Parts: sequence; C-alpha cells; structure tokens
Amino acid sequence: MLDQVAEINAIIVGANGGIGQALKANLSERPNFKSVVSFDRQTYPKYDITKPESFVPEFAKWQREGRKFNLAIIATGALIIDGVPPERRFAELDAKNMANHFALNATGPAIMIQQLLPLMQRHEPAVMAALSARVGSIGDNELGGWVSYRAAKSALNQIVRTASIEWARKNQESALLAIHPGTVDTRLTADYAHPKKVSADVAAQKIMDTIYKAKPPMTGGFYDNQGVAIEF
Ligand SMILES: NC(=O)c1ccc[n+]([C@@H]2O[C@H](COP(=O)([O-])OP(=O)(O)OC[C@H]3O[C@@H](n4cnc5c(N)ncnc54)[C@H](OP(=O)(O)O)[C@@H]3O)[C@@H](O)[C@H]2O)c1
Repeated sequence: MLDQVAEINAIIVGANGGIGQALKANLSERPNFKSVVSFDRQTYPKYDITKPESFVPEFAKWQREGRKFNLAIIATGALIIDGVPPERRFAELDAKNMANHFALNATGPAIMIQQLLPLMQRHEPAVMAALSARVGSIGDNELGGWVSYRAAKSALNQIVRTASIEWARKNQESALLAIHPGTVDTRLTADYAHPKKVSADVAAQKIMDTIYKAKPPMTGGFYDNQGVAIEF
C-alpha cells in the first residue's frame, strides 16, 4: 500500500533505539521516502513515554499546525526496567515492576497512538505500527516466566486492535499493526543469548517490507517481521 504513495512523511517514536535507528536508516533509502521525524529522548530531552504530559503538548501543537504523516512507527519499550530483570518465576512478581511494564510497554504506546491518529493522513493510504513481542502472545505461551513484560505486550496488542477499528472508520486505506521484530541484537537483548538473534539492519529490512506491504484487511493484527500472523 505505501508503495503507491508518492511521498512518505514518517514519524518514528524511539528512533534512537536499536531497532528504531535501523528502521530510520532503512526507510530513508526507500524510493518514495520524503521525510522522517525522530521522536526520542535524544531529540526531545524532556520526553518520557510513561509521562503523557511530556509529549502530548508537542503533538497538540502539530495538530494545530495541520502536520500530517502517512507512516508512524512506535519502536519504544524495555524488557529490563530500573535494573529489574524479567521474572523467571511467578513468585518474583512485584506490583511496582509490573506497573512500570504497563506504563512503558502498554499505556505509553496507547497514549502515543491516541496522539498520532489525528496526525495521520485521512484521504490516502496510511500505516501505523507498534513494536510488540511474540512473548505477548497468550496462545503461544508454553514456557511461562516474564509475566510483566508478556502481559504488557498482550495489552499492547489489544490496544492496537481497538484503535485500528476506530481508525478504519475514518480512513479505509489504513493499517495499524502490532509487529514482533524478531530476536534482534540490541541493548534490550544484550543479556540474553539466542541462537536466532539477528542484526537490527536485517530485522529492519523485514519489518519495513512488512509495513510497506500492509493492507487494510491486516489492520488490528499481530504479525511477525515477515507479515505472518501470530495468534493473540
Ligand atoms: N530486540 C529484540 O529482540 C526485541 C524482541 C521483541 C520485541 N522487541 C521490542 O522492540 C522494541 C524496540 O526494542 P529494541 O530492541 O530496539 O530496544 P532498545 O535498543 O533498548 O530501544 C528501546 C527504545 O525505547 C526507548 N525508551 C525506553 N524507555 C523509554 C521511556 N521511558 N520513554 C521514552 N522512550 C523510552 C529507548 O530510548 P532511550 O535510548 O532514550 O532509553 C529506545 O529508543 C521494544 O518495544 C521491544 O519490546 C525487541
């Protein structure tokens, strides 16, 4: 769908992260790329996705200015918050840590989606993607552990699904996706060995291809980096 758009004006939230940086570089080499706003804590030092008051005024200003995007990617998130690693056992569950996971991995992206939707093009194809995680799949959970991160990503998938329904009523050429990026070599996975870990550039190529191929019937779904649906 995005291939048919003459010029892509994008925003990447978390453009300074491992995957965010690679997505930005990949996007800037696409033939119809025009511009990208990097919305991250390097560019906007007061911004914190867990604190809506730190970014909502900026987005409201853009709305007043009539700014429009046809691609938005939310690439923020964390597995380890305030030095607390993901739980290995349910006995490690801690209310404060769980609340931190929801704030960063679910509520923050939800408010971000809320703020981004009015900035998306209304009368031409537009795509929004939020980076989720396969471990957020309830149906796929056979190992247990990581309950706070898992539950926050499951919530993110529901948030994406819910927002997509309203967006489709306003723009029938829209797609809002939750994407598992793969197991990617970034700061987030630095402490975790994995036989299938890939570089951020390799992951970004696949994610961006999936975003470019996204079509309205895919909206509200949860996909791997190749666009294959993952069960909720
Ligand atoms: N890497 C993987 O294998 C993998 C697997 C599954 C899912 N994911 C998901 O992919 C996304 C990106 O992960 P990554 O691997 O690129 O990790 P990363 O390199 O650690 O990047 C994380 C990004 O999130 C931002 N961030 C963290 N806390 C924030 C806060 N409070 N406010 C604003 N921004 C904040 C970081 O900004 P700062 O640099 O300013 O902290 C950075 O831009 C995450 O949602 C993650 O759950 C990754």
